[in-house]
Amino acid sequence: MFTIGPYQIHGKTVLAPMAGVTDLPFRQLCREMGAGLVVSEMVASDPSTWSTRKSRLRIQFGNEPSPKSVQIAGYDPQMMAEAAQFNVAQGAEIIDINMGCPAKKVCKRAAGSALLKDPQLVESILTAVVNAVDVPVTLKIRTGWDRQNRNATEIATIAEQSGIQALAVHGRTKACRFVGEVEYDSIAKVVDAISIPVFANGDITCAAQAETVLKKTGASAVMIGRGAQGNPWIFNQINHYLEHAELLPEPSIAEVGAVMTRHLTDLHEFYGEVGGVRISRKHIGWYSSWLTDGKAFTKIFNQLETCEQQQQQLREFFDNYSLEERAA
Ligand SMILES: Cc1cc2nc3c(=O)[nH]c(=O)nc-3n(C[C@H](O)[C@H](O)[C@H](O)COP(=O)(O)O)c2cc1C
Repeated sequence: MFTIGPYQIHGKTVLAPMAGVTDLPFRQLCREMGAGLVVSEMVASDPSTWSTRKSRLRIQFGNEPSPKSVQIAGYDPQMMAEAAQFNVAQGAEIIDINMGCPAKKVCKRAAGSALLKDPQLVESILTAVVNAVDVPVTLKIRTGWDRQNRNATEIATIAEQSGIQALAVHGRTKACRFVGEVEYDSIAKVVDAISIPVFANGDITCAAQAETVLKKTGASAVMIGRGAQGNPWIFNQINHYLEHAELLPEPSIAEVGAVMTRHLTDLHEFYGEVGGVRISRKHIGWYSSWLTDGKAFTKIFNQLETCEQQQQQLREFFDNYSLEERAA
């Protein structure tokens, strides 16, 4: 357990913010399956984007439990402060600042991880946002700009002094994007340098690895991104392993089917027919990649054009799967 402002966060697992993935249905699922904290998809600080359907969907919380954390991205301290205020007015209980994303769209105007190049600007943004809202502000960074400029410890110290209340560190530089070994030793240095909770992030895909990373870094929690795609069970698996030093059994096929069906229904409800059909394809594809015959199933599933067809196809797949299980 650790705390962020008034919030006690249980367990040692956090869902990483992922644009296009960590929408309300997925966040709710991950919370129910053990994630102590989840973060919304990134919202741009440019006010002209706030009224778009995409942005409106990004800051819907449904009946999500507290704390509701919203990630903002941008490069201008004043705009970031206003974006934070806007999101708090919409119900955000934690503001998370993105200085960890290398995406071109985010970095082209020196936002996201490109900001790490300019510690003074980082300080101005963090101070402006912290002073603008009365909810906790958290930050997500990488280990630096590139391999020659690893300044995560400097940025972490600035963050703590600016009033940031938790820090997530993806153990790669911006230049490394998603390639190469994660530098857990750089994360350990950050943990040593500051006393706010630190989340260790990067390439964690199973319980045993989560335990190793926590031991290596001394972080308060692990932050899981791609390892949770099609695999929301990972949070309970990690929590259980850390508490009881034993692995939970893999979910049964019936449980996988039930979770996929529920997730599909939630996506359809949340996005409606067109968006729901499109966004379901990637999630169902991720779940299916773990299943025997999942590839063939995904191929058919991706050609379906209506929610009803997708539901029907999933039902048939699991009906046949159960028959095969019983026959085995
Ligand atoms: C599809 C996708 C979207 C992402 N979007 C964001 C984002 O909006 N904000 C952010 O801070 N990081 C974003 N990230 C980075 C993740 O939060 C995380 O730092 C990264 O994936 C490494 O963790 P992992 O190895 O557990 O996936 C994204 C990553 C992926 C794969």
